[in-house]
Amino acid sequence: METMQLGRTDLRVAPLGVGAWAWGDKLFWQFGKGYDRQDAHAAITTTLAAGIDFFDTAEVYGAGQSEKILGEYLREKNPRVVLATKFLPYPWRWSSATLLPALRASLARLGLPRVDLYQVHQPLPPVAPEAWMAAMADAFDAGLTRAVGVSNYNAAWTRRAQRALQARNIPLATNQVHYSLLNRKMERDGTWEACAELGVTIIAYSPIEMGLLTGKYTPDNPPPGVRAWRYTREYLTRIQPVIACLREIGAARGGKTPSQVALNWTMCKGTLPIPGAKNARQAQENAGALGWRLSAAEVAALDAVSATFAEKKSRG
Ligand SMILES: NC(=O)c1ccc[n+]([C@@H]2O[C@H](COP(=O)([O-])OP(=O)(O)OC[C@H]3O[C@@H](n4cnc5c(N)ncnc54)[C@H](OP(=O)(O)O)[C@@H]3O)[C@@H](O)[C@H]2O)c1
Repeated sequence: METMQLGRTDLRVAPLGVGAWAWGDKLFWQFGKGYDRQDAHAAITTTLAAGIDFFDTAEVYGAGQSEKILGEYLREKNPRVVLATKFLPYPWRWSSATLLPALRASLARLGLPRVDLYQVHQPLPPVAPEAWMAAMADAFDAGLTRAVGVSNYNAAWTRRAQRALQARNIPLATNQVHYSLLNRKMERDGTWEACAELGVTIIAYSPIEMGLLTGKYTPDNPPPGVRAWRYTREYLTRIQPVIACLREIGAARGGKTPSQVALNWTMCKGTLPIPGAKNARQAQENAGALGWRLSAAEVAALDAVSATFAEKKSRG
């Protein structure tokens, strides 16, 4: 199995991971409606069987439920995984002293002595990135995390975080950002260049645009819940050429699905995509993005059809 390095660390993972936001989250993903804890556990089993070892969760997902669901599984089956979670700088967490207790609470929910990657979930000015990175370095030195990452950091904040960690001899491993065929902002706003220059791996979140790039949602069949508000009928109409291109390329490749092609495109860009999967079927399909690569011509065709796409036309 092909692997990739997380930044300049000794962590190596399969070039496709999995995101755990939907496991336990009722508010956005409607956990309990159509899928449950057993489905989440089946998705984990299927994911591992496909050779995928990188799992991304966060303390905020399902208010801790996602970490608990993953933790139950890990305690019971003890598989070899590379586990990432995140610290959310809530507005009331104005002091960097809040980071270590939050990490310890995540470890308790996960039932682990340490995580592999601990990430700051998003910037929260006015707290400076240097303050969070000092606390991250303490967590690293205390052996509570094997690597440090950030998320939703722009180029300037990524550079500041990297410099602050470097002063403690710790590499900034990753920056987790929204990246899909329908959201290519980070290619243009300097984030991509900064990460490439600093050797920081980009983790692509929402790589199938919250289910839209599967092709199953159309103007007449919009996604349920919060996504119906976020992705308007007009938006669902405008993305159809991208879906058609995914279908065409997938068909020419002997029946790859739109999500598999969309995920493969993010892999071809050198990022580590972490699609969510609510059940074993979705996990199995997404894992089918592994083991092959789009040709340069196919990547170029997808680049072209998605380039005309202004990513800020959805509400989210
Ligand atoms: N750092 C951040 O700020 C941030 C933000 C967002 C996400 N993330 C991370 O990124 C991960 C993935 O992002 P995401 O969950 O937002 O979006 P995503 O991976 O683009 O889409 C996941 C959703 O698409 C649908 N789906 C997935 N595979 C499918 C398949 N093969 N066939 C049909 N439907 C399928 C499922 O929802 P339905 O079946 O309901 O359509 C699933 O919950 C998250 O779990 C989380 O770990 C991080």
